[in-house]
Amino acid sequence: MAKTIHLIAAARPNFMKVAPLYHALDKVRDWADPVIVHTGQHYDPNMSDAFFADLRLPAPHVNLEIGSGSHAEQTGGVMIAYEKLCLARAPDWVVVVGDVNSTLACALVAKKLCLPLAHLEAGLRSRDRTMPEEINRIVTDAIADLLWTPSPDADENLRGEGVQAERIERVGNIMIDSYELVRDRIEADPTPDRLGLRAGEFGVVTLHRPANVDDPAILSRIVGELSLVSHSLRLVFAVHPRTRKRLEEFGLLPRITECPGITIIEPLGYINFMALVRKARLVITDSGGVQEETTYLDIPCLTLRDTTERPITLTQGTNRLIAPNALATSVASALAGDWPHGRRPALWDGRTAERVAASLRRHTAREVGVARN
Ligand code: UD1
Ligand code: UDP
Repeated sequence: MAKTIHLIAAARPNFMKVAPLYHALDKVRDWADPVIVHTGQHYDPNMSDAFFADLRLPAPHVNLEIGSGSHAEQTGGVMIAYEKLCLARAPDWVVVVGDVNSTLACALVAKKLCLPLAHLEAGLRSRDRTMPEEINRIVTDAIADLLWTPSPDADENLRGEGVQAERIERVGNIMIDSYELVRDRIEADPTPDRLGLRAGEFGVVTLHRPANVDDPAILSRIVGELSLVSHSLRLVFAVHPRTRKRLEEFGLLPRITECPGITIIEPLGYINFMALVRKARLVITDSGGVQEETTYLDIPCLTLRDTTERPITLTQGTNRLIAPNALATSVASALAGDWPHGRRPALWDGRTAERVAASLRRHTAREVGVARN
Protein backbone atom coordinates (compact mmCIF):
# COMPACT_ATOMS: atom_id res chain seq x y z
CA MET A 1 0.00 0.00 0.00
CA ALA A 2 1.21 3.54 -0.77
CA LYS A 3 2.77 5.40 2.16
CA THR A 4 1.00 8.51 3.42
CA ILE A 5 3.41 11.45 3.39
CA HIS A 6 2.34 14.68 5.05
CA LEU A 7 3.86 17.73 3.36
CA ILE A 8 3.54 20.62 5.82
CA ALA A 9 2.85 23.97 4.15
CA ALA A 10 2.19 27.06 6.22
CA ALA A 11 3.61 30.35 5.03
CA ARG A 12 4.60 31.98 1.74
CA PRO A 13 8.15 30.58 1.41
CA ASN A 14 6.93 27.04 2.18
CA PHE A 15 4.81 26.70 -0.93
CA MET A 16 7.82 26.92 -3.29
CA LYS A 17 9.50 24.15 -1.29
CA VAL A 18 6.49 21.85 -1.07
CA ALA A 19 5.28 22.18 -4.68
CA PRO A 20 8.17 20.46 -6.50
CA LEU A 21 8.17 17.63 -3.95
CA TYR A 22 4.40 17.18 -4.26
CA HIS A 23 4.76 16.91 -8.04
CA ALA A 24 7.65 14.44 -7.77
CA LEU A 25 5.70 12.22 -5.35
CA ASP A 26 2.53 12.53 -7.41
CA LYS A 27 4.41 10.70 -10.19
CA VAL A 28 5.16 7.67 -7.99
CA ARG A 29 1.77 6.96 -6.50
CA ASP A 30 2.45 3.22 -6.48
CA TRP A 31 4.38 3.82 -3.23
CA ALA A 32 3.70 7.44 -2.21
CA ASP A 33 0.49 9.21 -1.25
CA PRO A 34 1.43 12.88 -0.73
CA VAL A 35 -1.00 14.84 1.46
CA ILE A 36 -0.67 18.63 1.69
CA VAL A 37 -1.35 19.84 5.23
CA HIS A 38 -1.72 23.64 5.32
CA THR A 39 -1.50 24.98 8.86
CA GLY A 40 -3.11 28.30 7.87
CA GLN A 41 -0.20 30.39 9.22
CA HIS A 42 -0.51 32.56 6.10
CA TYR A 43 -4.06 32.95 4.84
CA ASP A 44 -4.51 36.09 2.70
CA PRO A 45 -5.18 35.06 -0.90
CA ASN A 46 -1.95 36.75 -2.06
CA MET A 47 0.09 35.08 0.72
CA SER A 48 -1.30 31.59 0.15
CA ASP A 49 -3.89 30.64 -2.54
CA ALA A 50 -1.98 32.48 -5.28
CA PHE A 51 0.93 30.06 -4.85
CA PHE A 52 -1.23 26.97 -5.12
CA ALA A 53 -2.52 28.25 -8.46
CA ASP A 54 0.90 29.39 -9.73
CA LEU A 55 2.68 26.16 -8.75
CA ARG A 56 -0.18 23.94 -9.98
CA LEU A 57 -0.86 22.47 -6.57
CA PRO A 58 -4.24 20.99 -5.66
CA ALA A 59 -6.09 22.76 -2.85
CA PRO A 60 -4.63 21.65 0.50
CA HIS A 61 -6.01 18.27 1.54
CA VAL A 62 -6.23 19.58 5.11
CA ASN A 63 -6.25 23.16 6.43
CA LEU A 64 -5.70 23.60 10.17
CA GLU A 65 -6.66 27.33 9.87
CA ILE A 66 -4.47 28.51 12.73
CA GLY A 67 -3.85 32.07 11.47
CA SER A 68 -1.81 34.77 13.22
CA GLY A 69 -0.86 35.15 16.88
CA SER A 70 2.08 35.39 19.23
CA HIS A 71 4.83 32.79 18.83
CA ALA A 72 3.36 30.62 21.57
CA GLU A 73 -0.21 30.99 20.32
CA GLN A 74 0.76 30.12 16.76
CA THR A 75 3.13 27.27 17.62
CA GLY A 76 0.82 25.85 20.28
CA GLY A 77 -2.25 26.20 18.05
CA VAL A 78 -0.59 24.28 15.23
CA MET A 79 0.63 21.60 17.64
CA ILE A 80 -2.82 20.98 19.12
CA ALA A 81 -4.54 20.84 15.74
CA TYR A 82 -1.85 18.79 14.03
CA GLU A 83 -1.66 16.27 16.85
CA LYS A 84 -5.41 15.61 16.46
CA LEU A 85 -4.92 15.00 12.76
CA CYS A 86 -2.04 12.56 13.36
CA LEU A 87 -3.93 10.73 16.09
CA ALA A 88 -6.97 10.31 13.84
CA ARG A 89 -4.78 8.83 11.11
CA ALA A 90 -1.04 8.59 11.50
CA PRO A 91 1.00 9.35 8.38
CA ASP A 92 3.97 7.16 7.44
CA TRP A 93 6.18 10.25 7.09
CA VAL A 94 6.02 13.88 8.09
CA VAL A 95 8.01 16.26 5.88
CA VAL A 96 8.54 19.79 7.18
CA VAL A 97 10.23 22.53 5.17
CA GLY A 98 12.05 25.77 5.98
CA ASP A 99 12.03 27.47 9.36
CA VAL A 100 8.66 29.00 10.20
CA ASN A 101 6.73 28.42 13.42
CA SER A 102 4.59 25.72 11.79
CA THR A 103 7.77 23.83 10.80
CA LEU A 104 8.79 23.57 14.43
CA ALA A 105 5.25 22.84 15.68
CA CYS A 106 4.63 19.93 13.30
CA ALA A 107 8.14 18.55 13.89
CA LEU A 108 7.52 18.42 17.65
CA VAL A 109 4.16 16.72 17.19
CA ALA A 110 5.59 14.15 14.80
CA LYS A 111 8.45 13.10 17.04
CA LYS A 112 6.35 13.00 20.24
CA LEU A 113 4.17 10.51 18.37
CA CYS A 114 7.30 8.65 17.18
CA LEU A 115 6.48 9.33 13.52
CA PRO A 116 9.34 9.43 11.01
CA LEU A 117 10.25 13.07 10.37
CA ALA A 118 12.24 14.65 7.54
CA HIS A 119 13.36 18.28 7.28
CA LEU A 120 13.83 19.81 3.86
CA GLU A 121 16.25 22.79 3.84
CA ALA A 122 18.00 21.52 6.97
CA GLY A 123 21.26 22.77 8.45
CA LEU A 124 21.00 26.50 7.69
CA ARG A 125 22.28 28.68 10.52
CA SER A 126 22.50 32.46 10.86
CA ARG A 127 24.03 32.08 14.36
CA ASP A 128 21.66 34.83 15.45
CA ARG A 129 19.41 33.42 18.12
CA THR A 130 17.32 36.59 18.26
CA MET A 131 15.79 35.41 14.96
CA PRO A 132 12.73 33.23 15.65
CA GLU A 133 13.64 31.18 12.58
CA GLU A 134 17.05 30.24 14.04
CA ILE A 135 15.35 28.66 17.06
CA ASN A 136 12.93 26.83 14.76
CA ARG A 137 15.83 25.52 12.64
CA ILE A 138 17.95 24.34 15.57
CA VAL A 139 15.13 22.46 17.29
CA THR A 140 13.73 20.93 14.11
CA ASP A 141 17.15 19.67 13.02
CA ALA A 142 17.88 18.26 16.47
CA ILE A 143 14.86 15.95 16.31
CA ALA A 144 14.36 15.12 12.61
CA ASP A 145 15.32 11.63 11.44
CA LEU A 146 16.34 12.75 8.00
CA LEU A 147 18.00 16.07 7.17
CA TRP A 148 17.96 17.18 3.54
CA THR A 149 20.44 20.03 3.05
CA PRO A 150 20.88 22.56 0.22
CA SER A 151 24.63 23.26 0.49
CA PRO A 152 27.90 22.05 2.08
CA ASP A 153 27.81 24.73 4.82
CA ALA A 154 24.56 23.19 6.05
CA ASP A 155 26.16 19.73 6.27
CA GLU A 156 29.04 21.22 8.25
CA ASN A 157 26.71 23.01 10.65
CA LEU A 158 24.86 19.77 11.36
CA ARG A 159 28.03 17.73 11.81
CA GLY A 160 29.30 20.46 14.15
CA GLU A 161 26.16 20.01 16.25
CA GLY A 162 26.85 16.31 16.54
CA VAL A 163 24.30 15.01 14.03
CA GLN A 164 25.16 11.51 12.80
CA ALA A 165 26.37 11.50 9.18
CA GLU A 166 23.73 8.95 8.11
CA ARG A 167 20.93 11.40 8.94
CA ILE A 168 22.30 14.07 6.56
CA GLU A 169 21.74 14.02 2.78
CA ARG A 170 22.69 16.90 0.53
CA VAL A 171 19.92 17.20 -2.06
CA GLY A 172 20.33 20.78 -3.34
CA ASN A 173 18.03 23.77 -3.33
CA ILE A 174 14.36 22.95 -3.85
CA MET A 175 13.43 26.65 -4.45
CA ILE A 176 15.19 26.41 -7.78
CA ASP A 177 12.93 23.51 -8.79
CA SER A 178 9.93 25.81 -8.41
CA TYR A 179 11.54 28.41 -10.64
CA GLU A 180 12.29 25.80 -13.30
CA LEU A 181 8.80 24.31 -12.96
CA VAL A 182 7.18 27.56 -14.12
CA ARG A 183 10.07 29.23 -15.94
CA ASP A 184 8.08 29.56 -19.20
CA ARG A 185 5.23 31.34 -17.45
CA ILE A 186 7.65 33.62 -15.57
CA GLU A 187 9.40 34.56 -18.80
CA ALA A 188 6.08 35.29 -20.54
CA ASP A 189 4.58 37.21 -17.62
CA PRO A 190 3.69 40.86 -18.37
CA THR A 191 3.96 42.24 -14.80
CA PRO A 192 6.96 44.54 -15.50
CA ASP A 193 5.20 46.02 -18.56
CA ARG A 194 1.97 46.38 -16.63
CA LEU A 195 3.81 48.47 -14.05
CA GLY A 196 5.52 50.51 -16.76
CA LEU A 197 8.97 49.10 -15.91
CA ARG A 198 11.78 48.48 -18.37
CA ALA A 199 14.26 45.65 -17.93
CA GLY A 200 17.33 46.73 -15.94
CA GLU A 201 15.86 50.11 -14.98
CA PHE A 202 14.23 49.37 -11.64
CA GLY A 203 14.87 47.79 -8.26
CA VAL A 204 12.59 45.38 -6.38
CA VAL A 205 12.14 45.76 -2.60
CA THR A 206 10.76 43.25 -0.06
CA LEU A 207 11.07 43.49 3.73
CA HIS A 208 9.46 41.61 6.58
CA ARG A 209 12.05 40.63 9.24
CA PRO A 210 10.93 41.77 12.70
CA ALA A 211 14.45 43.19 13.31
CA ASN A 212 13.90 45.61 10.40
CA VAL A 213 10.22 46.39 10.46
CA ASP A 214 9.09 46.11 14.09
CA ASP A 215 11.38 48.87 15.38
CA PRO A 216 10.18 52.38 14.39
CA ALA A 217 13.68 53.89 14.38
CA ILE A 218 15.12 51.19 12.10
CA LEU A 219 12.13 51.13 9.77
CA SER A 220 12.22 54.91 9.55
CA ARG A 221 15.91 54.82 8.62
CA ILE A 222 15.24 52.22 5.93
CA VAL A 223 12.38 54.31 4.52
CA GLY A 224 14.72 57.31 4.40
CA GLU A 225 17.37 55.32 2.51
CA LEU A 226 14.80 53.93 0.06
CA SER A 227 13.67 57.45 -0.61
CA LEU A 228 17.27 58.49 -1.35
CA VAL A 229 17.79 55.48 -3.62
CA SER A 230 14.61 56.27 -5.54
CA HIS A 231 16.22 59.46 -6.92
CA SER A 232 18.59 57.32 -8.96
CA LEU A 233 16.63 54.07 -9.42
CA ARG A 234 12.91 53.51 -9.65
CA LEU A 235 11.79 51.09 -6.92
CA VAL A 236 8.87 48.67 -6.72
CA PHE A 237 8.08 47.71 -3.15
CA ALA A 238 5.84 44.63 -2.68
CA VAL A 239 4.74 45.19 0.89
CA HIS A 240 4.40 42.16 3.19
CA PRO A 241 1.36 42.35 5.53
CA ARG A 242 3.57 42.58 8.67
CA THR A 243 5.41 45.51 7.10
CA ARG A 244 2.25 47.29 5.95
CA LYS A 245 0.88 47.04 9.46
CA ARG A 246 4.05 48.55 10.91
CA LEU A 247 4.34 51.32 8.29
CA GLU A 248 0.78 52.34 9.13
CA GLU A 249 1.27 52.04 12.88
CA PHE A 250 4.47 54.15 12.83
CA GLY A 251 2.97 56.75 10.44
CA LEU A 252 5.66 56.00 7.84
CA LEU A 253 3.47 55.06 4.88
CA PRO A 254 3.01 58.66 3.58
CA ARG A 255 6.82 59.10 3.43
CA ILE A 256 6.89 56.28 0.90
CA THR A 257 3.74 57.01 -1.06
CA GLU A 258 4.92 60.62 -1.49
CA CYS A 259 8.12 59.46 -3.23
CA PRO A 260 7.53 59.63 -6.98
CA GLY A 261 10.27 57.04 -7.54
CA ILE A 262 8.70 54.35 -5.35
CA THR A 263 5.72 52.25 -6.42
CA ILE A 264 4.02 50.47 -3.55
CA ILE A 265 2.21 47.25 -4.44
CA GLU A 266 0.57 44.38 -2.60
CA PRO A 267 2.52 41.11 -2.23
CA LEU A 268 2.59 39.39 -5.60
CA GLY A 269 2.04 35.80 -6.62
CA TYR A 270 5.19 33.80 -7.35
CA ILE A 271 5.10 34.09 -11.15
CA ASN A 272 4.42 37.85 -11.13
CA PHE A 273 7.10 38.42 -8.49
CA MET A 274 9.79 36.37 -10.23
CA ALA A 275 8.93 38.10 -13.51
CA LEU A 276 9.87 41.37 -11.79
CA VAL A 277 13.00 40.01 -10.11
CA ARG A 278 14.48 38.53 -13.28
CA LYS A 279 14.25 41.91 -15.03
CA ALA A 280 15.38 44.01 -12.07
CA ARG A 281 18.65 45.96 -11.95
CA LEU A 282 18.95 44.89 -8.33
CA VAL A 283 16.92 43.66 -5.37
CA ILE A 284 16.78 45.09 -1.83
CA THR A 285 15.46 42.53 0.63
CA ASP A 286 15.66 40.76 3.96
CA SER A 287 13.99 37.60 2.66
CA GLY A 288 15.75 34.25 2.89
CA GLY A 289 14.41 32.80 -0.35
CA VAL A 290 15.01 35.95 -2.39
CA GLN A 291 18.74 35.85 -1.52
CA GLU A 292 18.85 32.45 -3.24
CA GLU A 293 16.70 33.34 -6.24
CA THR A 294 18.84 36.40 -7.04
CA THR A 295 22.01 34.30 -6.85
CA TYR A 296 20.42 31.82 -9.26
CA LEU A 297 19.44 34.62 -11.66
CA ASP A 298 22.70 36.61 -11.26
CA ILE A 299 20.89 39.73 -10.05
CA PRO A 300 22.64 41.93 -7.42
CA CYS A 301 21.00 41.38 -4.03
CA LEU A 302 21.39 43.87 -1.18
CA THR A 303 20.31 42.11 1.99
CA LEU A 304 19.40 44.41 4.87
CA ARG A 305 20.71 42.14 7.59
CA ASP A 306 23.96 41.59 9.47
CA THR A 307 23.93 37.80 9.16
CA THR A 308 22.60 35.24 6.73
CA GLU A 309 21.82 31.55 7.13
CA ARG A 310 22.59 31.25 3.42
CA PRO A 311 26.33 32.14 3.31
CA ILE A 312 26.79 30.42 -0.04
CA THR A 313 24.91 33.34 -1.62
CA LEU A 314 27.76 35.55 -0.34
CA THR A 315 30.69 33.28 -1.22
CA GLN A 316 29.40 32.10 -4.60
CA GLY A 317 26.50 34.39 -5.38
CA THR A 318 25.43 37.98 -5.88
CA ASN A 319 24.33 38.67 -2.32
CA ARG A 320 25.85 41.24 0.06
CA LEU A 321 24.85 42.08 3.62
CA ILE A 322 24.20 45.80 3.96
CA ALA A 323 23.58 47.96 7.03
CA PRO A 324 20.52 50.19 6.61
CA ASN A 325 22.56 53.41 6.68
CA ALA A 326 24.82 52.09 3.90
CA LEU A 327 21.96 51.25 1.55
CA ALA A 328 22.07 54.30 -0.71
CA THR A 329 25.86 54.16 -1.14
CA SER A 330 25.74 50.41 -1.82
CA VAL A 331 23.06 50.89 -4.46
CA ALA A 332 25.27 53.56 -6.06
CA SER A 333 28.14 51.01 -6.23
CA ALA A 334 25.86 48.42 -7.79
CA LEU A 335 24.59 50.93 -10.36
CA ALA A 336 28.19 51.81 -11.19
CA GLY A 337 28.78 48.15 -11.99
CA ASP A 338 30.86 47.54 -8.90
CA TRP A 339 29.13 44.30 -7.92
CA PRO A 340 30.36 40.73 -8.24
CA HIS A 341 28.79 38.24 -10.61
CA GLY A 342 27.94 34.98 -9.00
CA ARG A 343 27.91 31.37 -10.01
CA ARG A 344 25.16 28.88 -9.35
CA PRO A 345 26.00 26.61 -6.42
CA ALA A 346 26.24 22.88 -7.08
CA LEU A 347 22.91 21.01 -7.02
CA TRP A 348 20.87 24.17 -7.51
CA ASP A 349 19.75 22.52 -10.72
CA GLY A 350 15.98 22.06 -10.63
CA ARG A 351 16.31 18.36 -9.77
CA THR A 352 16.25 18.50 -5.98
CA ALA A 353 12.69 17.17 -5.69
CA GLU A 354 13.69 14.02 -7.62
CA ARG A 355 16.58 13.45 -5.20
CA VAL A 356 14.33 14.02 -2.19
CA ALA A 357 11.70 11.59 -3.50
CA ALA A 358 14.39 8.96 -4.13
CA SER A 359 15.79 9.47 -0.63
CA LEU A 360 12.35 9.13 0.92
CA ARG A 361 11.75 5.93 -0.98
CA ARG A 362 15.08 4.46 0.14
CA HIS A 363 14.43 5.34 3.75
CA THR A 364 10.84 4.11 3.59
CA ALA A 365 12.19 0.68 2.75
CA ARG A 366 14.04 0.72 6.09
CA GLU A 367 11.76 3.06 7.99
CA VAL A 368 11.82 1.24 11.34
CA GLY A 369 15.52 1.99 11.72
CA VAL A 370 14.97 5.63 10.91
CA ALA A 371 11.99 6.06 13.20
CA ARG A 372 13.94 4.82 16.21
CA ASN A 373 16.97 7.01 15.72
C1 UD1 B 1 6.59 34.33 8.82
C2 UD1 B 1 7.75 33.50 9.34
C3 UD1 B 1 9.05 33.97 8.68
C4 UD1 B 1 8.93 33.96 7.18
C5 UD1 B 1 7.71 34.76 6.76
C6 UD1 B 1 7.52 34.64 5.28
C7 UD1 B 1 7.71 32.70 11.67
C8 UD1 B 1 8.21 32.95 13.04
N1 UD1 B 1 7.93 33.68 10.78
O1 UD1 B 1 6.81 35.67 9.22
O2 UD1 B 1 10.09 33.09 9.05
O3 UD1 B 1 10.08 34.53 6.63
O4 UD1 B 1 6.55 34.24 7.41
O5 UD1 B 1 6.71 35.62 4.74
O6 UD1 B 1 7.14 31.67 11.40
N2 UD1 B 1 -0.50 38.56 8.17
C9 UD1 B 1 -1.57 38.88 7.37
N3 UD1 B 1 -1.96 37.94 6.45
C10 UD1 B 1 -1.39 36.74 6.30
C11 UD1 B 1 -0.31 36.43 7.14
C12 UD1 B 1 0.13 37.34 8.06
O7 UD1 B 1 -2.14 39.95 7.47
O8 UD1 B 1 -1.80 35.95 5.43
C13 UD1 B 1 -0.02 39.57 9.13
C14 UD1 B 1 -0.64 39.43 10.52
O9 UD1 B 1 -0.83 40.70 11.04
C15 UD1 B 1 0.46 38.73 11.30
C16 UD1 B 1 1.73 39.27 10.66
O10 UD1 B 1 1.39 39.44 9.28
O11 UD1 B 1 0.38 39.00 12.66
C17 UD1 B 1 2.91 38.33 10.78
O12 UD1 B 1 2.59 37.01 10.31
P1 UD1 B 1 3.40 35.73 10.86
O13 UD1 B 1 3.03 34.53 10.09
O14 UD1 B 1 3.25 35.65 12.34
O15 UD1 B 1 4.88 36.11 10.63
P2 UD1 B 1 5.59 36.65 9.32
O16 UD1 B 1 6.18 37.98 9.62
O17 UD1 B 1 4.69 36.54 8.15
N1 UDP C 1 7.71 36.19 -3.07
C1 UDP C 1 6.55 36.29 -3.83
N2 UDP C 1 5.86 37.46 -3.84
C2 UDP C 1 6.28 38.55 -3.14
C3 UDP C 1 7.47 38.45 -2.37
C4 UDP C 1 8.15 37.25 -2.33
O1 UDP C 1 6.16 35.33 -4.51
O2 UDP C 1 5.61 39.59 -3.20
C5 UDP C 1 8.42 34.90 -3.03
C6 UDP C 1 9.89 34.92 -3.33
O3 UDP C 1 10.13 34.84 -4.71
C7 UDP C 1 10.38 33.67 -2.60
C8 UDP C 1 9.48 33.61 -1.39
O4 UDP C 1 8.35 34.43 -1.70
O5 UDP C 1 10.15 32.52 -3.40
C9 UDP C 1 10.19 34.12 -0.18
O6 UDP C 1 9.28 34.26 0.87
P1 UDP C 1 9.46 35.30 2.05
O7 UDP C 1 10.38 36.37 1.64
O8 UDP C 1 8.09 35.67 2.48
O9 UDP C 1 10.07 34.38 3.21
P2 UDP C 1 11.55 33.93 3.60
O10 UDP C 1 12.18 33.29 2.42
O11 UDP C 1 12.27 35.15 4.07
O12 UDP C 1 11.33 33.00 4.75
